[in-house]
Amino acid sequence: MQAVLAQELSKEFSGVRALDSLTLSLPEGSVFGFLGPNGAGKTTTVKLLTGLLAPTGGRCAVLGLDPREQAERVHALCGVMTESARLYPQLSGLENLEFFGELCGMTRAAARARGGELLRRLGLGEAGKRAAGEYSTGMAQRLSLARALLARPRVLFLDEPTSGLDPESAQAVNALIGEQAGQEGVTVFLCTHQLRYAEDLCGCYGILDHGALLAQGDLAGLAKAAGRGSFAAFRLAQGETLPGCEGAGGWWRRPLACPEEMPALVRGAVAAGCSVYEARIETPTLEDVYFSFIGREEGGALL
Ligand SMILES: Nc1ncnc2c1ncn2[C@@H]1O[C@H](COP(=O)(O)OP(=O)(O)OP(=O)(O)O)[C@@H](O)[C@H]1O
Ligand SMILES: [Mg+2]
Repeated sequence: MQAVLAQELSKEFSGVRALDSLTLSLPEGSVFGFLGPNGAGKTTTVKLLTGLLAPTGGRCAVLGLDPREQAERVHALCGVMTESARLYPQLSGLENLEFFGELCGMTRAAARARGGELLRRLGLGEAGKRAAGEYSTGMAQRLSLARALLARPRVLFLDEPTSGLDPESAQAVNALIGEQAGQEGVTVFLCTHQLRYAEDLCGCYGILDHGALLAQGDLAGLAKAAGRGSFAAFRLAQGETLPGCEGAGGWWRRPLACPEEMPALVRGAVAAGCSVYEARIETPTLEDVYFSFIGREEGGALL
């Protein structure tokens, strides 16, 4: 069964086509990075998949369930973290989790134990005793992630989980997400602008712009679709040159068809009398690929 399925899924808001015929299929255990500039339609997609919005066209399913018609069952199986965390300000962080856990059918003791552990992992061990209304934005965001993970969801929808977090908290959040995906086999649907984090966490990606999916696949597949290849790169002694390569900033590069070409190129550079200080294979990063599709001139939102 597919964890997430969308078939020509569309959403129009009074004339604005926020999502235009999205077709997507994610098997269980996928860690999917959903990327695209501001206004691309990422949050709209999450809202459609979690039943917060009704589609104006097409259909979608989460674990085989219709998010609108079987909302309760979908919510029992999914964790959702959106930009606007809805928390009870007068309750402490831990009490929020206990309350939410009971709503999900957990016992208070189980919710307390798991909630306490999640808060500790997210650096809110002490803050968990304070009223959530006193939390900073980043603290509320982490509490919202703890809430999404509380009932051990099978699918986790995360909308910008690290935007606005300090580097230490972002690292803790990413480690926890990675653990959910790796050890627990949870399907993760991650909307983010933070491409370096996405590259660490995700196995496949979708790139959305103006409501349309421009490309999807793993990094190697996207790089191929974008026509971006790998390079052999050599750092040589100052003043040296390497025939067949282009030089910039002390590095000399040439396109590389496959990694197996590399040893012969290194031997060639040495045989040509070059002092090779460093040699490496450069493969396109997610950022390179993203900009190939979105185009820098559009000023796509990043990092
Ligand atoms: N409730 C709404 N009413 C009208 N238009 C909306 C509504 N929600 C979203 N939109 C529009 O739909 C489009 C997609 O918005 P969405 O929030 O899905 O983008 P996003 O990819 O999540 O952007 P960001 O990176 O800024 O979070 C935008 O043009 C937005 O203005
Ligand atoms: Mg959004």
